[in-house]
Amino acid sequence: QILIIDFGSQYTQLIARRVRELNVYCEIHPYNNLPEMTDDIKGVIFSGSPHSVREADAPQIDQNLYRKNLPLLGVCYGAQYLAYQNGGEVLPSEIREYGRAKLTSVDANCPLMKDIPLNSQVWMSHGDTIASLPDAFEVIASTESVNVAAYRIKGEETYAIQFHPEVTHSIDGKRILENFIVDICGCAQNWTPDAFVDSTVAQLKEQLGEDRVILGLSGGVDSSVAAMLLHKAIGENLYCIFVDNGLLRKDEFESVLDSYKHMGLNVKGVNASSKFYAELEGLTDPEAKRKAIGKVFVDVFDEESKLVENAKWLGQGTIYPDVIESVSVKGPSATIKSHHNVGGLPDYMTLKVVEPLRTLFKDEVRRVGRSMNMDPNILNRHPFPGPGLGIRILGDITADKVRILQEVDHIFINGLKEHGLYEQVWQAGAMLLPVQSVGVMGDERTYEKVVALRAVTSVDGMTADWAHLPYEFLQEVSNQIINRVKGVNRVVYDISSKPPATIEWE
Ligand code: XMP
Repeated sequence: QILIIDFGSQYTQLIARRVRELNVYCEIHPYNNLPEMTDDIKGVIFSGSPHSVREADAPQIDQNLYRKNLPLLGVCYGAQYLAYQNGGEVLPSEIREYGRAKLTSVDANCPLMKDIPLNSQVWMSHGDTIASLPDAFEVIASTESVNVAAYRIKGEETYAIQFHPEVTHSIDGKRILENFIVDICGCAQNWTPDAFVDSTVAQLKEQLGEDRVILGLSGGVDSSVAAMLLHKAIGENLYCIFVDNGLLRKDEFESVLDSYKHMGLNVKGVNASSKFYAELEGLTDPEAKRKAIGKVFVDVFDEESKLVENAKWLGQGTIYPDVIESVSVKGPSATIKSHHNVGGLPDYMTLKVVEPLRTLFKDEVRRVGRSMNMDPNILNRHPFPGPGLGIRILGDITADKVRILQEVDHIFINGLKEHGLYEQVWQAGAMLLPVQSVGVMGDERTYEKVVALRAVTSVDGMTADWAHLPYEFLQEVSNQIINRVKGVNRVVYDISSKPPATIEWE
């Protein structure tokens, strides 16, 4: 594997993604909390950082831990750090070095630069520049304005690049990473979804033996794939619980439960809708609603798990981005956060936690699911919030309002699927507004509810843009909703981006 040392750059996770796309396993560790060295680490990458090497509190590391023992690649801050620590000069850039640049010279004999053409576009993003290099260092690539765009240290396998090979704007960036990882470090490209399934299942068998595991399924990708891996490892000793909180999509409980059973999972569906509705009665504040939903979930889950005698473990679908938070400026305390799907679990549940996906990114979770032949309907599903329709019904929640919103949502989502638009948007849903408006149907005046449709494009949900759905499609969906859903006489489409709006309305 490759060890990535994080100095806090926003791009560190992207380096990891690129390494894994080359079918090589890698892990990110913060510079101030380094892992034990093991024989399977074949090379090290120093990431970028929002800091300048010239700052008094710039992130520091003992470079001799790795240098000369293993191939080492410094990226951006990593490059400046290695140069600066060894007597090179790093100064504030006189001209802005952000954005696209072209390589005007490349050392074709350097293994890092193998097959990288002249004029290859690279992506720069740095405020400091390497003004001069120490003696044993030699330049292996330059751009028009940056002489030291890449360098190596003579007599050792240490390389550094000023630009960002991990972003797609660096056209040959992936090739540079491949040169480092495959040619220089000698990593075998055998970390595939199939290999992950085999090794994880073997590991889980060893870790869990005959123990019983409880897992809460949500219908989403992560918990489903985690369950499938555990199922392969321990079969009937995995007890899955799928709670109907009365806030799921139309027919979702039955259809998802059905596909879980087809997958061979030992799953119990628990219809607890009335408990959720009772706790939610009269609540209008979004946070109060979230808390109420979280509380009932914990109660129901706790009650159900007590029925599984002798359970030792709690399975969770935690994924890699939940585990590593870039150290950024916050320091090591921000590196790990515990993750619970809905509201957290009570302290008195003394189960040990098993998280088979904790090293995977979301797209890797899907690939692993595909390699286990899981239902594409589950794998390609849009994200759906834990509190479900509870935060899409603005104001208080009643069973009646849930039924109306389920119908509206069903027409919208089915429409997206039928028009081949579902996969083009990242998330979609409908909001029931606490507003009535006047309409006219036939000869009659109506005074009924307004719904808002929301569809967004996004990469990770942190930022999002409203999806530019075709007008004809919106028109068709609006007609269907107003004609078929009793109680709704007006449909609007949300054209706000995040930020400043959020994806959900509550
Ligand atoms: P916002 O509305 O903050 O949503 O832009 C970003 C993503 O998070 C989901 N979301 C939630 N998921 N519990 C969840 O499990 C919640 O309370 C919650 N609130 C928002 C939202 O659906 C979107 O994908």
